[in-house]
Amino acid sequence: MPSRVSPSGFKPLNETTLFKPLKLGHLDLEHRVLQAPLTRMRAPEESSGVYVCSDINVEYYGQRASKGGFQLTEACPISRLACGYKGVPGIFTPGQIAGWKRVTDAVHAKGGFIYCQLWHVGRATVPDFLDGHPAVSSSDIPITGNALTGAPYANTPPKPMTVEDIQEATKEFAAAAKRALEAGFDGVEIHGANGYLLDQFLHDNVNTRTDAYGGSVEKRCRFPIEVIKAVTEAIGADKVGIRLSPYNYFQDTRDSNPNQHWAYLCEQLASLPKENRLSYVHMVEPRFDEVLDESAKLGSLEKETSSNKNSLTPFRQILAKGDIKFLAAGNYNRDNAAPKVESGDADAIIFGRWFIANPDLPRRLAEGLPLNPYDRTTFYGADPPSKGYVDYPFFEPGSKEVTA
Ligand code: PHB
Repeated sequence: MPSRVSPSGFKPLNETTLFKPLKLGHLDLEHRVLQAPLTRMRAPEESSGVYVCSDINVEYYGQRASKGGFQLTEACPISRLACGYKGVPGIFTPGQIAGWKRVTDAVHAKGGFIYCQLWHVGRATVPDFLDGHPAVSSSDIPITGNALTGAPYANTPPKPMTVEDIQEATKEFAAAAKRALEAGFDGVEIHGANGYLLDQFLHDNVNTRTDAYGGSVEKRCRFPIEVIKAVTEAIGADKVGIRLSPYNYFQDTRDSNPNQHWAYLCEQLASLPKENRLSYVHMVEPRFDEVLDESAKLGSLEKETSSNKNSLTPFRQILAKGDIKFLAAGNYNRDNAAPKVESGDADAIIFGRWFIANPDLPRRLAEGLPLNPYDRTTFYGADPPSKGYVDYPFFEPGSKEVTA
């Protein structure tokens, strides 16, 4: 019988559902402690705006791989004009494919699996990052505040996409998915969350269109669903998931009725034909916010939608009707992760910050070992880049303990 607590005083989770196998699309996972997509901004620049994985990135992903584990890459731009940040490796040039191939080889060598997250930032960028081209979005509404260049986004409002632009971007998502398989990825996750391009079509405070792609929830969902169809047709639905964040505020999204609107989207996803039906949906909990703390975010949501209960569970239940697996993200830790899967409200848990600081996170949770604390100041790049990236230690007896 395993002891109820480890020598460090934490309960080992190896007997919980977190450590039961899970079939995710075509993969047989051995545990449900999954690595989040995490922007880390540490890939060197090969040519203007083109960043490619190097040794350090191979080491970082390889460190976090585990047998039968599942990792998501940082969000990867699907084209040169989908980019918004420095140091982020895309998936649109032969050099980038070759760089990522080294990453996927390192993960596979440890018996792990890895999906590439496909990203288009839409209006969350400025012409300075796009060789002078305008950012694009569903409408011409800019993000409030300043871009990373320091200039207000409002100085260069986004160009509303034409129907041709939308069709072109849809094809780019599908082409990027094929390149991801060339790079050895086991599949892809479409980034439909956090205020980036597809989310700028879903959220009704940004999408003010009156054509076939806006004006009603059905029309706001159209572009993301077309992308899902194109990507699943390109590489097979058993290799595709999507990330969604109904309650997102980041990048100035604030939907008028997330409960109703994302329930509609989930109904659509659950009833797509088998060949287009995603193997999973990955959703961000309402409590999570890139800027606000948990109580401020929840307090704010309650005010805005006081008559609605904000919870991912109704979405999970709708998606289950289509046999779509559900991955939950947002402020999970060793206490709340196992109960979430035990209750049936999620099939697996996505960990971000704890995975940054603990390359061997699955083992530490399984055995009830202490966790390394994370250093926020090195999340988005550091000097040298290895700091806070590949220098977090693996567990050794006597590691410093934190409560997590
Ligand atoms: C970020 O780099 O700030 C970022 C990127 C992708 C996300 C969320 C945040 O989904």
